[in-house]
Amino acid sequence: MTIEEARKKIIFALDVHGLDDIDRWAEALTGKVGMFKVGKELFTSCGPAAVKAVQKHGGQVFLDLKYHDIPNTVANAMCEAARLGVQLANLHALGGAEMMGTAVSAVHKEFSDAERPRLLAVTILTSSTVETLRQIGIEHSIQDMVVRLARLAKSSGMDGVVASPLEIGLIREACGPDFLIVTPGVRPSFASADDQKRIMTPAEAVSSGADYLVIGRPIAKAADPVQAAECIANEIVEGAL
Ligand code: C5P
Repeated sequence: MTIEEARKKIIFALDVHGLDDIDRWAEALTGKVGMFKVGKELFTSCGPAAVKAVQKHGGQVFLDLKYHDIPNTVANAMCEAARLGVQLANLHALGGAEMMGTAVSAVHKEFSDAERPRLLAVTILTSSTVETLRQIGIEHSIQDMVVRLARLAKSSGMDGVVASPLEIGLIREACGPDFLIVTPGVRPSFASADDQKRIMTPAEAVSSGADYLVIGRPIAKAADPVQAAECIANEIVEGAL
């Protein structure tokens, strides 16, 4: 794998609060990482301007808003996300096959394959435990649910899933080589774990089958963030040798 290919696998989590911060990070890291993740907090405070601020610097965007609503609403929201020109957008697989399929059809109808974002499903949030599932009436194990929802996402036409590094192998096996897997919870060998518990290094995650790695603090809190991003890309290249 080349260093450019490795850089493209890194999605920097823009866990910041204002447009000035976005500007600063997008200017520093565009070209050093493949994408910038705009989540609920940043989108709620800045709106579509957050996406445009990244794009102004030539950066690509993963819009991490995890939609879960009636099919028509999710489909319309997904089309709005696509109109913003983002490269990745997501929803909750727990919304079911009809919700996912309606969103997929709406986006495919309006956009060509080259123009449209790849659509990802969140299976079970990594903050959930068996007890969390039991409380809402689900008696299956987390792993069973993750695989079941990943398969449902695939058969509904979704392009991939967001998953914990520890679930990559199971999902790859169940959903095949072309299904995208995006994983947070990645910690390069030089960084602290922070509050992430079930972690893998970038090299481990990529060799387990991850297509993209969502990484925040190991870059944001580094003394030299650009160098940290470059070290991560190097770790990915070395791990792939
Ligand atoms: O700073 P850190 O690398 O832990 O950031 C990871 C990013 O991925 C954060 O934006 C976090 O909210 C997100 N995320 C996560 N674990 C999940 C899902 C999302 O860390 N299971």
